[in-house]
Amino acid sequence: MFALVTILVLLFASFSSAATYTGSAACRTCHAATYARWQKTPMANIVRDPREHPDAILPDLSKPDPLVNFKKEDIGLVYGSIWKQRYFKKVGDDYYPLDAQWDVTHQIWRAYRVADNTDWWVKFYPPENAKRPTSALCDGCHSTNLNLQTKTVTEWNVGCERCHGPGSDHVAKPSRANIVNPARLDTVAANDTCIQCHSQGQPPQKPMNGVYADWPVGYEVGKNLRDFWQLEEHKLGETTFTHFADGTAHKNRMQGNDFVQSAMYAHGVTCFSCHDVHGTDNRAQLIKPTSVVCLECHGPSSPNGPHAPSIETQTQEAHTHHRAGTPGNDCVSCHMPKIATQLADVNVRSHTFRFVPPSMTKLDKVPNACNACHADKSTDWASDALRTWKDRSPWRAE
Ligand code: HEC
Ligand code: HEC
Ligand code: HEC
Ligand code: HEC
Ligand code: HEC
Ligand code: HEC
Ligand code: HEC
Ligand code: HEC
Repeated sequence: MFALVTILVLLFASFSSAATYTGSAACRTCHAATYARWQKTPMANIVRDPREHPDAILPDLSKPDPLVNFKKEDIGLVYGSIWKQRYFKKVGDDYYPLDAQWDVTHQIWRAYRVADNTDWWVKFYPPENAKRPTSALCDGCHSTNLNLQTKTVTEWNVGCERCHGPGSDHVAKPSRANIVNPARLDTVAANDTCIQCHSQGQPPQKPMNGVYADWPVGYEVGKNLRDFWQLEEHKLGETTFTHFADGTAHKNRMQGNDFVQSAMYAHGVTCFSCHDVHGTDNRAQLIKPTSVVCLECHGPSSPNGPHAPSIETQTQEAHTHHRAGTPGNDCVSCHMPKIATQLADVNVRSHTFRFVPPSMTKLDKVPNACNACHADKSTDWASDALRTWKDRSPWRAE
């Protein structure tokens, strides 16, 4: 009798541990405030159906353009709103990219097709967009619980469970024990919550069930991302499709590839030390505005640096050599230059947090922050200026 009860209990435990995906709407009942904030973020709106959200399409499609060979009715799904917007047509049970994209910054159309000798997967697919299914190539990072075989999702967009794991058990009987909180994971797994999508990489197994997929198929938060995804490799000294010669990313969606190289990552800082993905009023969902977010941990006299020469001069200006209140005094201006290409000349910020010395620009064509603002000056001018900053090491900074 006792044995039977034990077996039943064990059986129940094993059933109930197989939690399933419920969708973000199920979380709303109890986490209403969090849900309301999250709902407004770009991550909760990357993919939209224009029939449900007619305002999702930014450009005016009634104006003809030689690059645009499709009509509003062809668009099954719309992706993006910040930098670029792309359009997808439903054929059979999958979606395929259309041939033009909208450049939000310049308000113009640009052709869209992933070119040869760029992404690793291109050589395994025919050249036409109409033969490049988004289930394998895109939507693993724009949805929650995409099944590559059935082509179904629990929901479009980065839903709660994409970062918290399947929530059915937790919804039925809320407890800390049956939902993942990334803040309670070790820092590698915690950062992998974001790196699963914010990186350029390849699955270790290619193809998988006959499919070349460009996302970490099978990964869920808490698992070891390394078993499902390998970050794009790089050789120092080579400028490639993804990297500058010093290993800094020059393509978009590489915050993860960059961040794992940084001293902050090694010291346990996480993406969510700076970003609150549930939504804030600051740019990029930062926990504090861009000009002050770093001071949370790098205030005057912080052991984390920056290290000014004496106690008296340990102010931000002593380190930046630019007047307070000017852009040259913002930490991000020098430590997160906009050098990763989103689209054409529109760039996003580097996440290695490394200062790229002007000499690196001269030697290896890695853009440095000084000459980004002082565009009329040479790299030698910038190196000379740095030589006068006595709190800097000439061996590193010039
Ligand atoms: C029926 C109410 C209810 C629903 C529905 C619900 N939660 Fe919770 N959630 C709670 C309560 C209560 C706690 C606090 C539990 C505790 O402290 O023991 C909690 C805690 C959490 C935590 C923090 C866990 C920790 O370790 O600190 C996360 C994350 C979370 N919920 C996510 C979700 C997600 C994602 C969903 C939807 C899939 C969801 N919740 C649906 C009630 C709910
Ligand atoms: C892109 C990833 C991501 C998404 C999407 C996300 N979360 Fe979180 N969530 C996190 C991370 C990281 C933490 C830990 C750091 C923190 O507290 O901000 C967290 C913490 C929490 C916590 C515990 C801390 C607290 O504020 O009480 C709750 C509850 C929670 N999330 C609920 C939700 C709900 C509900 C949704 C959907 C409406 C959601 N999350 C969507 C990543 C995410
Ligand atoms: C490995 C995950 C991943 C894959 C695969 C992926 N994306 Fe993304 N995508 C992201 C992330 C993360 C961002 C935002 C960060 C960034 O761009 O730096 C993004 C941004 C975008 C944006 C810009 C959104 C905006 O508001 O401007 C578009 C459009 C987009 N992706 C379309 C695609 C298409 C089309 C494909 C397939 C050919 C694809 N993505 C494949 C993760 C992915
Ligand atoms: C399922 C894939 C996925 C996961 C997981 C994910 N992201 Fe994203 N993220 C995206 C995509 C796609 C976009 C582009 C959204 C858009 O442009 O509409 C994006 C955009 C962003 C942005 C810029 C847009 C904004 O909100 O201003 C930030 C910041 C961001 N993500 C941070 C994070 C952090 C931090 C985590 C981990 C806690 C995370 N993301 C996890 C896919 C993901
Ligand atoms: C959550 C705390 C935290 C925040 C927020 C933070 N940092 Fe850090 N930072 C650290 C820690 C910890 C270290 C490692 C200190 C050490 O080496 O002992 C560090 C180190 C650094 C370094 C030295 C890196 C190197 O390679 O030597 C730079 C540069 C840096 N941070 C820049 C920034 C910038 C820029 C911001 C804002 C965008 C920022 N930090 C925000 C905690 C933080
Ligand atoms: C005008 C450019 C500039 C600005 C603005 C700037 N830094 Fe730096 N920072 C540098 C240079 C140059 C170095 C030296 C790089 C090296 O040694 O590799 C450096 C080094 C550092 C270091 C590592 C060395 C040390 O002294 O501990 C930290 C930490 C740091 N900066 C944090 C910050 C923070 C936080 C801010 C904003 C308050 C900031 N920096 C603003 C240029 C700048
Ligand atoms: C030390 C703080 C810090 C950490 C850690 C950090 N970020 Fe950021 N992130 C920022 C700042 C600052 C910005 C720029 C905001 C702005 O331009 O106003 C930013 C911007 C972004 C953007 C928007 C694109 C852009 O450059 O404007 C994305 C996406 C993003 N971060 C994702 C991530 C992900 C994913 C991680 C972890 C792999 C991460 N961040 C770690 C501070 C941080
Ligand atoms: C975000 C833009 C920005 C960045 C990045 C930046 N500066 Fe400046 N810098 C300025 C501006 C604007 C002024 C004029 C400041 C004023 O009026 O106080 C200035 C002034 C100067 C001056 C004194 C005036 C002059 O032109 O001779 C020097 C020297 C200088 N910067 C060197 C550097 C060096 C070296 C770096 C890289 C470590 C750097 N700056 C990074 C914007 C920037």
